[in-house]
Amino acid sequence: MKKIPVLILLIMSIFAVNSAQASGEAMFNSLGCSSCHGAGGHSTKPEYPVLAGKDSKYIVKQLEDFRTGVRKSPTMNAMAPMAIGYEEIIADYLAAQ
Ligand code: HEC
Repeated sequence: MKKIPVLILLIMSIFAVNSAQASGEAMFNSLGCSSCHGAGGHSTKPEYPVLAGKDSKYIVKQLEDFRTGVRKSPTMNAMAPMAIGYEEIIADYLAAQ
């Protein structure tokens, strides 16, 4: 069962590489962020935080902290490395929602 999340991450990373002309919106959707956090970060599920309208510096910091393990969340510790190189454009997109 442990292999399934790895496969999902692999598929997501292929999507990410294909988005050559990356916009924050395209990355947020193609990395699968919107599947939990909702379109534009407007989450409708209580277990997933709303990201829309949050300060972009705060979002970048959280992604760094998830990536380095300073902030612990099994889900986000796995997801944050996918956003490497795109943290700022994703955060700017979300802040503007
Ligand atoms: C499988 C569901 C899921 C996916 C996919 C996902 N997240 Fe999350 N995210 C969560 C959960 C759950 C939390 C809350 C973590 C905690 O604090 O325990 C969270 C928290 C966050 C936070 C911190 C919010 C805050 O208010 O502090 C940010 C920023 C974030 N996610 C960004 C992203 C980005 C960017 C992506 C895509 C690369 C992404 N997430 C993909 C479930 C997900």
